[in-house]
Amino acid sequence: MYSSKLNFVLQSIFVIFLISCATAKLSSDLKRCVAGDSKCIIKNINTVFGEKNQGDESFGLSQTEPFKMEDIIIKQDPANPVAIYLALKNPVVYGTKNIRARKVKGFGKTPDGRHELLLHAPYISMISDYEIDGKVLILPIKGQGKSNITLVEPLMKMIIDATSRIEDGKTYLNIKDLRVECKPKRLAMHFENLFNGDKALGENLNSFLNENWKEIYNEMKRPWYDAIGKQMKEGATKIFNTTPYDEIFEIL
Ligand SMILES: *[C@@H]1O[C@H](CO)[C@@H](O)[C@H](O)[C@H]1NC(C)=O
Repeated sequence: MYSSKLNFVLQSIFVIFLISCATAKLSSDLKRCVAGDSKCIIKNINTVFGEKNQGDESFGLSQTEPFKMEDIIIKQDPANPVAIYLALKNPVVYGTKNIRARKVKGFGKTPDGRHELLLHAPYISMISDYEIDGKVLILPIKGQGKSNITLVEPLMKMIIDATSRIEDGKTYLNIKDLRVECKPKRLAMHFENLFNGDKALGENLNSFLNENWKEIYNEMKRPWYDAIGKQMKEGATKIFNTTPYDEIFEIL
């Protein structure tokens, strides 16, 4: 089980994606894309990450590099191989400026069907004030201090299944389901000051975590995906519910 007041970089990616498409909020160096023109959509997304990461008031975009998040609290069930309480406070994310869209599918003439967004970054690091307590695989873990959790070369995928909704003669995209997936090449973790600063124990455990990153990631990714997906769905729903589809994309 996990509980969280969660807000993660992937959530804002989607908002950025929409902002980079929505006419009403366009700035001069971004132009609205024709529905289904994946090259144009990719270009807009990359412009926003690469060049507008310090924010742009003219279209209500806040700073994304670095990106400040809300606290994240994860409580895993004691029966799990990774049975931890993990609190990440004041998290700050670095590396979003190098996120690039690789592939966009869907977003065609009508909102119906599946839409996909594939993004890649060299790294995404989250620096936080952590508190951890519990058991990872076979070892107990406990401590508090500064942590660095880094996704190395993450490939991120967003999948939206949608239908059309017509209101006052306008067509809107209605999200049925929104999911996220993320596949990193590696997960690099460093927790300072584990076990009240016991250097030997702390370094051993950090090595253990990094050697076993795959198992740890596989155990932890579900609650992350679910929470991120849920938050993103809320954000995306807000935008798609208030902006007609033909204002987001030009329909030819
Ligand atoms: C976080 O960890 C990554 C991977 O080990 C490293 O490249 C990066 O410099 C670290 N960031 C900070 C702020 O320590």
